[in-house]
Amino acid sequence: MAGEVVKLLLTDSNGAYLDLTAGLGGHLRALAADLGLSARLYGIDKDGQAVGRARKNLEAIGQLKGLRKASYADVDVVVEQFEDRQFDGLLLDLGLSSDQLDDPARGFSFRRDGPLDMRFDTDTVGRTAADLINALDEKDIAEILRLFGEERGAARLARAIVRERQKEMILTTAQLARIVTGIVPPPHQTKSLARVFQAFRIAVNRELDELQAVLPRAVALLKAGGRLVVITYHSLEDRLVKRFFQEEARGCICPPGFPQCVCHRRPRLKIITRRILRPTPEEIKSNPRARSAKLRAVERLPL
Ligand SMILES: C[S@@+](CC[C@H](N)C(=O)[O-])C[C@H]1O[C@@H](n2cnc3c(N)ncnc32)[C@H](O)[C@@H]1O
Repeated sequence: MAGEVVKLLLTDSNGAYLDLTAGLGGHLRALAADLGLSARLYGIDKDGQAVGRARKNLEAIGQLKGLRKASYADVDVVVEQFEDRQFDGLLLDLGLSSDQLDDPARGFSFRRDGPLDMRFDTDTVGRTAADLINALDEKDIAEILRLFGEERGAARLARAIVRERQKEMILTTAQLARIVTGIVPPPHQTKSLARVFQAFRIAVNRELDELQAVLPRAVALLKAGGRLVVITYHSLEDRLVKRFFQEEARGCICPPGFPQCVCHRRPRLKIITRRILRPTPEEIKSNPRARSAKLRAVERLPL
């Protein structure tokens, strides 16, 4: 959806743009191609390995003014190191990259055997998926599976995880996958595996908390008329983004019976994508992982 992203984000060809999930720099590169030479581009990613590779990939891009390893939740602090503090466009392309998913050492995929890590930021001593799986109570594991994986068999799966870890520690993606396929019937296995792995990834990286934190901060960094584009990959994050946009696009929130407004609340955002954008069938064919992508965009109203 890179074409759509560029079209929606670009309001000033010599403006300032920040990719909050820079990954390997694909969107930054696409933006650079359509921007003037005095435009300024910036990127943030929580994954130090991705930032290192993006730096190489974007070496020749003169408009790139800053690339930092950081969480988007801390964007307000990070931008203090940039030349620009207000932006014409911000992008959040959530989830994980194909690169991260395909690397067995990162532990994100149930299709590849590797350590149960799942941290985006592997430089700090954060808890890995193995730490959670081997230490949490059965009740907390079930809660993770229910809340972050929307997994109906959460209680049964949590029980099986706890039973298995009493025999030996669960340290690899293959062990976790075996537990799931041991109790879920074949027609539902792939979906359950995806939900279980998604749930632990979200828990390890506190993804929903970080998303909740970044949205108001991103809006505060937009110039009037500037745009925020968000691509989500599952219903939990999409719901959160949708509700935030709706709230911010609403004006007065006084009860309908009030004779006059007492909240004096004014909308901060205008929703540009009345209908969410989805990848085309051709895009899904060339990149099946994009099939769940949903794109929403908003514009900052004058202050
Ligand atoms: C779908 S990929 C982005 C791909 C990128 N747009 C590109 O063009 O290559 C999502 C990226 O978000 C990063 N990420 C996940 N959580 C993050 C966070 N809290 N702060 C910053 N980056 C994060 C991941 O490390 C990953 O590189």
